Amino acid sequence: MKIQTGYLILLLGFAVITIQAQEKKGCLADGCHGDFLQMEDIHPAIEDGCDNCHDQSYDNHPDRKGKEFKLTDDLSALCFDCHDEPDDKMVTHEAFASGECVSCHSPHSSDNPYLLLSENVGELCAKCHEIENSERVVKHGPTVSGQCNVCHEPHQSVNAKLLKEKSPQLCFNCHTDKEKLLTMPTVHAAYEGSCLDCHDPHDSKYKYLVNEKLPDLCLECHDDMGDEIKTAQTVHKIINIDKSCVSCHFPHASETKTLLIAEGKKLCFTCHNKEYKDPDRTLKNIYKIVTKAKYPHEAVSKGECTGCHFPHSSDNFYLLNAKFPFGSYAGGADPENFALCFKCHNSDALSLERTTKATNFRNGDKNLHYLHISKNKGRNCTLCHSVHGAKKPHIIANTVPFGKWQMPLNYKALEDGGSCAPGCHGKLEYKR
Ligand code: HEC
Ligand code: HEC
Ligand code: HEC
Ligand code: HEC
Ligand code: HEC
Ligand code: HEC
Ligand code: HEC
Ligand code: HEC
Ligand code: HEC
Ligand code: HEC
Ligand code: HEC
Ligand code: HEC
Ligand code: HEC
Repeated sequence: MKIQTGYLILLLGFAVITIQAQEKKGCLADGCHGDFLQMEDIHPAIEDGCDNCHDQSYDNHPDRKGKEFKLTDDLSALCFDCHDEPDDKMVTHEAFASGECVSCHSPHSSDNPYLLLSENVGELCAKCHEIENSERVVKHGPTVSGQCNVCHEPHQSVNAKLLKEKSPQLCFNCHTDKEKLLTMPTVHAAYEGSCLDCHDPHDSKYKYLVNEKLPDLCLECHDDMGDEIKTAQTVHKIINIDKSCVSCHFPHASETKTLLIAEGKKLCFTCHNKEYKDPDRTLKNIYKIVTKAKYPHEAVSKGECTGCHFPHSSDNFYLLNAKFPFGSYAGGADPENFALCFKCHNSDALSLERTTKATNFRNGDKNLHYLHISKNKGRNCTLCHSVHGAKKPHIIANTVPFGKWQMPLNYKALEDGGSCAPGCHGKLEYKR
């Protein structure tokens, strides 16, 4: 801050003369206001003479305990006598523009730098700003330690909210590791914007200072997904528990595509490597099924789980990404009911009553897929096939649930056909 040059020269000249002449008698004498000089930082304006700012209107000081002094100018103008007026092109702090300097500075001297009234700047700000909020239990380091001025200019700034720098640069000053994320192969478009879209710089109700709970934080921008989740028949439960979206996605940037924390099956196996038991159902340990299977379904072993499942929500049960019947029975041999399977397989394997090519599950030219599924209690594929993988060839299940009974299928693959002896009928054999 510039001081009028003429004044400065005068002041320097007089400072030497007066202080020496008074020999710390006068106002600054020991026992009077000598304590002003005991501080680390002394305002040059007092060394020059108290009358820079005080007018003595009665002689009998100190009888009237200081009441005989008044300020030479309104408090709102006093400091601007020597210090620059606010630059009206900048964002200006009202406390500065209105000359309330002494709510932050001592006019005389102080043990703190810049004549500040407290070492903890936050305590000064707290005189006018409410920063303590008992609901917002997660606090940002520099804010709780009262270092408001590492982010804010106290007087004026070129940035809104008196910020020293704009986000994200402001944040990168300390979170240097976060700047490097901008060079990762995938960077979240939101991360290239402002950190403040997701974080509160001061405090928050939520972990990691996010300004909204998950998944709402993400769904504010991904609102189309929000609508889908609201109306979908099945929502992946993880979205509404634990770390929600960030169980699978990095919020900032990643080496992988789509900001995923792991790719392909690995991602799903971070959780589906165990059973999930609910009172009304148990989800199998898919990792175990796939890795233990002698005959894994190639769609699973070579493909990805997302070949058949949506990761977020679906209008089909089990998050399936196309139509598939629920439970043991299907509504007839219409391939439409099994759209999921026929995304990759030829539907002739089901729809042709007689064929010598379309499927190997036939007795002569009699299509046994058609036979089993076209009947009024048409069987679902899952009554014979274990979709993720099985110990038997053609991913035929060992057992399938029939009510509470795990019914064995006793399937055997033969050179030109196969045989089975399930609970449904006695042992039968087919031959192509
Ligand atoms: C730069 C202007 C300025 C100078 C120079 C100055 N004062 Fe003050 N002084 C003030 C202001 C402003 C207040 C009122 C502070 C407030 O309201 O918080 C004040 C208040 C006081 C008070 C009462 C409250 C307190 O802080 O103790 C005393 C005593 C005082 N000054 C003594 C002095 C003496 C002695 C000198 C000279 C050695 C001096 N002042 C020089 C601006 C100044
Ligand atoms: C009579 C002139 C004069 C007046 C009036 C004046 N100042 Fe100063 N002030 C100075 C000079 C000279 C300096 C030293 C040069 C500088 O740092 O800009 C200074 C420096 C400061 C500093 C910086 C101190 C440091 O440690 O870096 C602060 C803070 C300050 N003044 C606050 C005030 C406040 C608050 C008022 C009003 C109560 C005020 N000044 C009124 C002359 C004045
Ligand atoms: C809200 C608190 C606050 C108010 C009000 C305030 N200051 Fe400051 N001032 C500070 C802080 C904090 C610093 C330390 C510099 C920093 O952190 O950037 C400072 C630094 C200064 C400095 C030294 C550095 C510089 O910018 O030259 C001067 C001089 C100064 N203030 C004068 C004033 C004057 C004059 C007023 C009133 C017109 C005033 N201040 C009002 C908080 C305040
Ligand atoms: C003497 C009272 C006072 C003190 C002390 C004070 N402020 Fe303020 N501050 C105000 C007023 C008045 C406003 C304008 C009204 C508002 O936004 O609340 C304001 C506004 C602000 C704003 C918003 C500016 C904008 O452009 O929207 C910020 C940021 C701010 N203050 C930070 C601080 C910080 C940091 C401190 C401590 C270094 C501090 N204030 C100390 C009175 C004060
Ligand atoms: C880590 C940096 C940082 C620290 C430390 C910090 N702030 Fe802020 N503050 C910000 C940012 C960024 C904004 C702007 C928020 C926005 O625009 O959403 C802000 C906004 C504000 C506002 C304006 C609020 C509004 O809604 O207009 C005030 C007042 C404020 N801060 C006061 C403080 C006080 C007081 C402290 C110290 C206790 C402090 N800040 C510490 C970064 C910080
Ligand atoms: C002055 C340095 C500083 C600045 C500037 C700063 N931070 Fe911080 N931040 C910290 C410190 C220190 C911590 C606490 C570190 C810890 O606990 O590991 C922290 C913690 C955090 C955390 C929580 C981390 C955790 O593990 O709980 C988030 C989120 C955060 N900062 C975001 C931001 C954002 C956003 C900005 C910009 C608006 C920002 N920070 C600016 C110093 C800073
Ligand atoms: C799209 C929203 C979003 C944006 C934008 C964002 N973050 Fe985050 N950030 C989060 C979420 C969510 C978490 C918590 C992650 C978790 O729980 O694993 C987080 C965690 C953090 C953490 C603590 C954990 C860690 O990774 O170190 C820091 C620090 C952080 N963010 C800083 C920043 C900074 C700096 C920016 C701006 C450059 C930023 N964030 C932008 C959402 C965001
Ligand atoms: C401020 C708005 C905003 C917020 C908040 C936000 N995003 Fe985004 N996100 C975008 C934009 C813009 C894109 C790029 C366009 C698109 O794909 O929709 C994007 C893209 C994505 C992508 C695809 C990235 C790619 O490269 O394919 C994922 C995944 C994502 N966001 C996840 C999240 C998660 C998780 C959260 C919550 C932690 C979140 N987003 C919060 C704006 C946001
Ligand atoms: C179980 C893991 C998982 C969870 C939880 C998850 N995602 Fe995803 N997300 C994925 C996978 C896998 C993809 C890639 C899909 C693909 O490539 O076919 C993806 C893709 C995306 C995409 C880009 C493509 C698209 O579908 O628009 C966005 C945006 C996205 N997710 C946002 C979110 C948001 C927001 C949340 C929280 C509401 C969330 N994700 C929760 C796994 C997950
Ligand atoms: C070829 C399509 C397909 C692929 C690929 C696939 N699934 Fe499935 N998944 C299904 C079908 C169909 C069901 C319903 C099975 C049923 O009704 O018994 C299912 C059911 C599930 C279930 C419900 C649990 C249960 O007990 O049956 C989970 C969990 C699951 N899959 C996870 C995965 C994971 C993880 C992957 C990747 C390793 C994966 N799926 C790959 C088709 C597939
Ligand atoms: C962070 C953990 C986590 C990850 C990663 C994860 N899931 Fe899940 N998944 C769950 C939880 C929790 C459930 C619900 C379990 C329950 O019902 O108790 C679930 C349920 C499911 C279901 C049954 C849905 C229903 O309610 O009908 C399927 C299917 C499924 N997950 C597939 C996947 C696929 C495919 C992936 C990879 C894209 C994946 N999961 C990744 C945690 C996860
Ligand atoms: C994403 C593509 C894809 C989907 C969807 C898919 N499969 Fe497959 N399936 C394959 C591939 C690839 C193979 C290995 C090549 C082959 O035998 O056709 C295979 C093999 C099979 C085999 C074993 C063939 C053999 O003789 O060993 C059966 C049985 C099977 N799938 C049943 C199903 C069922 C039932 C569904 C629906 C729930 C389904 N598939 C959905 C891709 C898929
Ligand atoms: C009654 C048990 C049974 C049902 C129900 C069943 N399959 Fe099969 N499927 C078999 C047998 C047994 C084979 C092995 C034929 C062979 O190679 O000997 C087979 C083979 C297959 C093959 C390998 C190619 C072929 O046709 O030979 C595919 C693909 C297939 N089934 C898909 C399905 C689909 C999709 C469904 C549901 C629409 C389904 N299966 C229902 C028993 C069944």
